[in-house]
Amino acid sequence: MSDSDKPTGLPADLPGDPMHWADAWLKEATAGAIQRNPNSMTIATVGADGQPAARVVLCKQFVPDPGYLVFYTNYRSRKGRELSANSKTAALFHWDALGRQVRIEGVVVRSPAKESDAYFAGRDWGSQLGAWGSDQSEPIASKGALVAQIQQRGSDLGLTLAKGTQDLVNDRIPSIGRPPHWGGFRLWVTDIELWLEGADRIHDRGKWSRQVVKVSDDNFEATAWKSTRLQP
Ligand SMILES: Cc1cc2nc3c(=O)[nH]c(=O)nc-3n(C[C@H](O)[C@H](O)[C@H](O)COP(=O)(O)O)c2cc1C
Repeated sequence: MSDSDKPTGLPADLPGDPMHWADAWLKEATAGAIQRNPNSMTIATVGADGQPAARVVLCKQFVPDPGYLVFYTNYRSRKGRELSANSKTAALFHWDALGRQVRIEGVVVRSPAKESDAYFAGRDWGSQLGAWGSDQSEPIASKGALVAQIQQRGSDLGLTLAKGTQDLVNDRIPSIGRPPHWGGFRLWVTDIELWLEGADRIHDRGKWSRQVVKVSDDNFEATAWKSTRLQP
């Protein structure tokens, strides 16, 4: 990285709108094509026994105002079950080529059904079939058994697939509705840290916190952000 490419630090007075900063970083990572899936983020959940678990998902919407992000998954998966029992979560973006990390904490709620329907409807039929065909996080005896299960579910949906494959044998693609156990989670952000790599490990860290209160199934009210600079 040349000197001119090096990220400049956070302003001396931390900005009041960290979600817009994070959004700008995500857009920059996307526009710069610096890595595959620049919108990938690690999501942490905690099981009933206190055991944390982490996995990557794709952030499909980043909404600075009023401050949530959206990812899609199977509500019956491990993460889906753990988030239903304990809505507190953490998310992490890391763009190594930019020397940037965004750490997020907050609470999740399921996205409005209509929003998940619209997103699902815009996916290609292969992804739609995948959502019906895989009982995400459940064990299966073999890859062959998985293909057979997907075949069967594809046929139940009206798709004609070549034997032992997920290839369509003709162009007739029925309209495939969203499985009720698949959809979005909105992660309402309560804490966010912007981390910027610095020389000699003197990294720049700004942390913002606020409180969010659920006022309806689809909406939260949030207090103003309070910022703190952290030592690296
Ligand atoms: C780059 C990448 C993107 C992924 N995107 C998603 C996603 O958007 N939704 C999802 O459910 N799983 C996604 N996965 C798979 C998850 O990491 C994970 O394997 C799966 O969701 C099951 O997790 P769980 O058993 O903890 O619920 C992705 C994996 C990778 C590596």
